[in-house]
Amino acid sequence: MTELKNDRFLRALMRQPVDRTPIWMMRQAGRYLPEYRATRAQAGSFLDLCKNAELACEVTMQPLRRYPMDAAILFSDILTVPDALGLGLYFEEGEGPRFCKTVRSEEDLAALNDIKAADDLSYVMNAVSTIRRELNGAVPLIGFSGSPWTLATYMVEGGSSKDFRRIKAMAYDQPQLMHALLALLADAVADYLTEQVKAGAQALQIFDTWGGSLSAAGYKEFSLKYMQRIIARLPNEHEGRPVPVIVFTKGGGQWLPAIAGCGAQAVGIDWTTDIALAREQVGDRVALQGNMDPAMLYASPARIREEVAGILAGFGHGTGHVFNLGHGITPEVNPDHVTAFVDAVQELSPQYHQG
Ligand code: CP3
Repeated sequence: MTELKNDRFLRALMRQPVDRTPIWMMRQAGRYLPEYRATRAQAGSFLDLCKNAELACEVTMQPLRRYPMDAAILFSDILTVPDALGLGLYFEEGEGPRFCKTVRSEEDLAALNDIKAADDLSYVMNAVSTIRRELNGAVPLIGFSGSPWTLATYMVEGGSSKDFRRIKAMAYDQPQLMHALLALLADAVADYLTEQVKAGAQALQIFDTWGGSLSAAGYKEFSLKYMQRIIARLPNEHEGRPVPVIVFTKGGGQWLPAIAGCGAQAVGIDWTTDIALAREQVGDRVALQGNMDPAMLYASPARIREEVAGILAGFGHGTGHVFNLGHGITPEVNPDHVTAFVDAVQELSPQYHQG
């Protein structure tokens, strides 16, 4: 086992002292980078890229060559799990993800494959171990999955949705069917994340991209409860180190006190939440990750730096903050603006970690 050369990301997640605030970016490997677009063209489709361990490793490393990020994230997608369950994932150019089959009845649910991540998602585990080898201890590797609720939105709707009308009708009219699907997904995700840890993931993030579309009561019943169930079943440590879990519910800012109690070591917050208030609400129960508006990267480098300064001051002194965007970086961003963003965090954050 190689020694980690930079562990400030893992230390901040565990709220241990660090020399400066660590940073990584959601979707840091992606279309805003010309080198990503080149590798993607070489691979063929996006899914071919995910299934080729060498190329998935290459695109994971690309942002790290440009920017001094404190973590790498596995290059894959949250929808690999529903694909393995038998729904047939494909991407329609310009329209986002689609499934050949959907889950809208007891029969659809019963028809899903019984999966074991080690076998049915072995291409993801190959990517994880290939990336770990290539990183050679430079920075920690983040594994991830979608939350059961977020995965279910795609499985029930058949793709992306604006109003979630089918899944919400199911949740409100057929709660038993909804809970059966969410329980199945929680089992599959717990197994999937456990296998990622065994393959080399050193921290985990659960993307609850659509939890924020629920009511306050609905969020606890249909999303938070199942993330809690997953976390309770994950290995607490691996290779002699804890494996911290980050829960990111986009739009979950008003439920922070509840989210902070779900068993995760860290909570991701989007840009609509005031990070100073968030810290007050969670206290020392969890670390916080976030939360610059991704659209700030369209502004000038000077304005980006000002925003970084404000977020650092908002969180204030001490450990427990991982800098990130409040959601994924978008394809139209100029890569030089990312340089300004990362440099600002590197240069302005040490003052918050002295004494
Ligand atoms: O963060 C990273 O760099 C790791 C890679 C990663 C991807 N998807 C790569 C990707 C991660 C962590 C994801 C998670 C993901 N996928 C989420 C949750 C995160 C979030 O943004 O809230 C969701 C909802 C998905 C589902 C999905 N996959 C969508 C909506 C899309 C975009 C479709 C489009 O055409 O815009 C994808 C495809 C996808 N996943 C791309 C990438 C780099 C773009 C594919 C391409 O190259 O065309």
